[in-house]
Amino acid sequence: MTTANTRQRLVIGNWKMNGSLAANEVLLKGIRDGSAAIENCTVAVCPSFPYLAQVSQALSGSSVSWGSQDISPEASGAFTGEVSGSMLNDFNCAWALVGHSERRALHGETSGQVAKKAQAALLHEITPVVCVGETLQDREQGNTLAVIQSQLAPVLALGAQMVNKMVIAYEPVWAIGTGLTATPEQAQEVHAYIRAQLTAMGAENVQVLYGGSVKAANAASLFAMPDIDGALVGGAALVAEEFLNIATALYFWSFTFMPSYLYPLLTVVQVIAAFGVIVLVLLQQGKGADMGSSFGGGSAGSLFGATGAANFFSRATKWVAVVFFITTAGLAYLGNMASGSSQQAPSGGLMEGYQAPNPALPVAPPASAVPGAPEGGVSVPAAPVAPAASSVPAAPATAPAAAETAPEVVAPAPEAAPATENAAEATDSEKVAE
Ligand code: PGA
Repeated sequence: MTTANTRQRLVIGNWKMNGSLAANEVLLKGIRDGSAAIENCTVAVCPSFPYLAQVSQALSGSSVSWGSQDISPEASGAFTGEVSGSMLNDFNCAWALVGHSERRALHGETSGQVAKKAQAALLHEITPVVCVGETLQDREQGNTLAVIQSQLAPVLALGAQMVNKMVIAYEPVWAIGTGLTATPEQAQEVHAYIRAQLTAMGAENVQVLYGGSVKAANAASLFAMPDIDGALVGGAALVAEEFLNIATALYFWSFTFMPSYLYPLLTVVQVIAAFGVIVLVLLQQGKGADMGSSFGGGSAGSLFGATGAANFFSRATKWVAVVFFITTAGLAYLGNMASGSSQQAPSGGLMEGYQAPNPALPVAPPASAVPGAPEGGVSVPAAPVAPAASSVPAAPATAPAAAETAPEVVAPAPEAAPATENAAEATDSEKVAE
């Protein structure tokens, strides 16, 4: 399906450091077989490097694509343990995750390095999936948007031409692998912020995925949000059926208008039905005998059958009780969908204690001036505007497709470089602070 605009839904499985030849075979068969039934959703998996050959063999000819969990910013050479874009090309990788929080946290990746990885992927015509997300501490301190902003800044600084070929994944660190999921509203708030920044630079159609304990049970309510275009899925991607159920999360519930009016409507009907049952029971107990007798003859009698009021009341009670139970079940279902998870997400407001962005960063016009920025709900702080494309550091000269894929990166602009470096440094110092 498409979302609020015309963005195609995208669901990517991040297998992390899981799998074996034997286990992958089963998983890939399940995904391949089940993928035939998936419509209007791009599905992809990102296995560990050693399994790319197996995955490409198992999925080629299917609608499922594949990618890597990382990519080196370098073209080739003495970089032990790294995997280059051209190597990924050998296995027809369509995607490369960059800046996953586990790499940022465990391998000290800075946002500046993440931007270089995204650039390297694009030079090899691989779509980078740039991951950003705040820690629990960031959220509790009200720094969520500031952290997202600093992580995105060097990436957006690559310019609209490059950013338009990327995917962004918002993955709150506290939700990854924890079973805690951001509520759809919490996720939407950050997605809207990211969308506003993308819109400000002419990249509003970039897909923005949500990641963090996504499963089939909560996918639909997340996908119902206007700025959530799909999911980056970890644990749930290791079970074919669960993974595919995320990709096929019921379209009906994805209409954004459904939750807004259906819940109150069901509540009103349920309350009326509850009162109805009580009144009908009282009437049948004789407490409303006078009122009941009025149904006993004349037109009411003929309308509701020859047996008169007693029959009418027992039938009416039955049907009102059925309505009550249906609305109760519907409310329970919607309530579960809306919460997205039975577990509580942390409540820290995004803007609580929000600090102004690093003054070293270029500042964007206020959100109100940004076309497509959310109205009312999210108070979007000043966002960094991507500097002119010419401020992007020169691409590696060895990259063969540099000129065609991203001509603007060829022109170095030393005077603008410090802004990008500052952005990376800001992120680094934040990491130290953590
Ligand atoms: P999770 O992981 O779905 O297991 O939380 C998501 C991710 O890390 O991409």
